This record gives sequence, C-alpha cells and structure tokens, in this order.
Amino acid sequence: MATIIGGLATSHIPAIGGAIARGLQQDPYWKPFFDGFPPIHRWLEGARPDVVVVFYNDHGLNFFLDKMPTFAVGAAPEYHNADEGWGIPTLPPLAGNVDLSWHIINELVEKEFDIVTCQEMLVDHACTLPFKLFWPDADPAPVSIVPININTVQFPLPKALRVYRLGRAVGEAIRSWDSDARVVVMATGGLSHQLEGKRAGFINREFDLAFLDSLESNPGWATQFTSLELVEMAGTQGVELLMWLAMRAALGPASPSVRKVHSNYHIPISNTATGVIALETAA
Ligand code: DHB
Ligand code: FE
Repeated sequence: MATIIGGLATSHIPAIGGAIARGLQQDPYWKPFFDGFPPIHRWLEGARPDVVVVFYNDHGLNFFLDKMPTFAVGAAPEYHNADEGWGIPTLPPLAGNVDLSWHIINELVEKEFDIVTCQEMLVDHACTLPFKLFWPDADPAPVSIVPININTVQFPLPKALRVYRLGRAVGEAIRSWDSDARVVVMATGGLSHQLEGKRAGFINREFDLAFLDSLESNPGWATQFTSLELVEMAGTQGVELLMWLAMRAALGPASPSVRKVHSNYHIPISNTATGVIALETAA
C-alpha cells in the first residue's frame, strides 16, 4: 500500500511567481520569505516523494462564479497552467497520477462526499507556484500530482469540520491505494489576508501563529470555527487556510506520529501574511 511520508503547505501569492522569474530570492524584501524553504528542500531530497496530492483553491481560471463546485478532484493525465492576468510566466504542465485520482474519487464517493471529477482541469497560481517553491531547480517538479480543489472563493463555503473530514478521507484513500508510492500531501493558500473591502490589508499574526502551532499537535483545533468566524479572524482570503487543515487531516493523528520538520512565518508580502510548513509522518 502507498505511504504518506509527510505534508507541505505554503502561501501562493502571484507576486512570488514574479519574484522567482526575476531571481529576487535574495532581495531584502523577498529573502525572509524564501529563507523558509532551504531546510524543506533538504528534507525533500531525503524523503523523495513520487506523488503529491495537492489541496488548493482555484481563483477563477478553471471554475468561475457561474459553476462553483465545493470539492473537485482532478483525474487528468496532465494539468496545464494558463495566463490569469497577473503578469507572471505560464508554467509547464504538471503530470497527473490518474490511477490515484480515480482511487481517491471512488473512495470519496463511497464515503458520501459529492465531489466533481475533472478529466480536464486548468491549474492556477495556487497549484503551480508551490511546486516552484518546493522544487526550485526542477521544471516541472519530479512528481505526479492529484489536485483537489476546495471552494473558498464564493459563499457558501464548506465548513472547517467538513474540510477536515474530507482531508481525513483523502488520507485513508491514499493509504489504501495499491501502490508502493511515497506520497506527500500539500496545501496552498493563506495565511491571513483580505484583498478587498474596508478590511483590505487585514492580517492577524496571533491567529496565524496559533493555527500553525495547532497543525503539529492539535490538528482539529480550527474545526471549532464556522467559515464566517474564520473569515473574521483570518480575512476573506485567509480562509484559504482550510487547505492546510485538509492536508493536516490527511496525515492522521497528532504527534509523536507527526513531527514538524520546519516552518516559517513572515509579514508582509503583498497584502498577505505568508507561511510555510513541512510535517513528517512516522514510518
Ligand atoms: C494575493 C493573495 C492570494 O491568495 C491570491 O490568490 C492572489 C493574490 C495577494 O496577496 O496579492
Ligand atoms: Fe489565493
């Protein structure tokens, strides 16, 4: 059976794509963000994952407001990126793991999650940039992927407890996949940010740090909050942290079976508090 070897999560601001394209990783503005990654690169060199299941939220590239699934699972042989209008380079396609996609889809439907299955799916910055951050020297990253989209763009949003249960079911599906693959579960989004309205620029450091802490030892902590409470505490886009919650739920119970490899938190980039974390599951 497949093994989940760990979890990764990072913020996914488009401006990061611009910084990478212009080689600004050591620029004083960007350095505190990019400095969060080398310890995780070293861990990945040893961990050698084959497959990445990535929880992300599309921002209007593949799903627009007229057709908005709550949960959508990719089942494509290849995932293409396209211009979203941010002025960042369009990245090469990522290879899909169709076998794991259909296994996850079958298991989720069996467990009564009404998902949308996508045999074609464009992936936006939320899916593509994390692969550039975690595998900066590979183009594309040397893994196949299963993208899972969670709606955090248009209300009603799925509540945190539901997302946690989805993540747990995805973790169970991965572990029951007939394969000797080494799988990493990834999440992208957050941390606190709000891009529009009266609270544009809103950041909540105290909440972000409490959430980051909870991922190691109290993974269900955020499920006590409603989606509106999460928006209130983390901002209208900060609610993207639901992806991190799904990733963490997929890894299974709390430490010592889940150990933090490294994390970093930095304010501000753009309007967004940025974070990264790597978690390792016990063999
Ligand atoms: C920004 C943050 C996001 O999560 C996003 O998807 C787009 C832009 C930003 O901070 O600029
Ligand atoms: Fe976003």
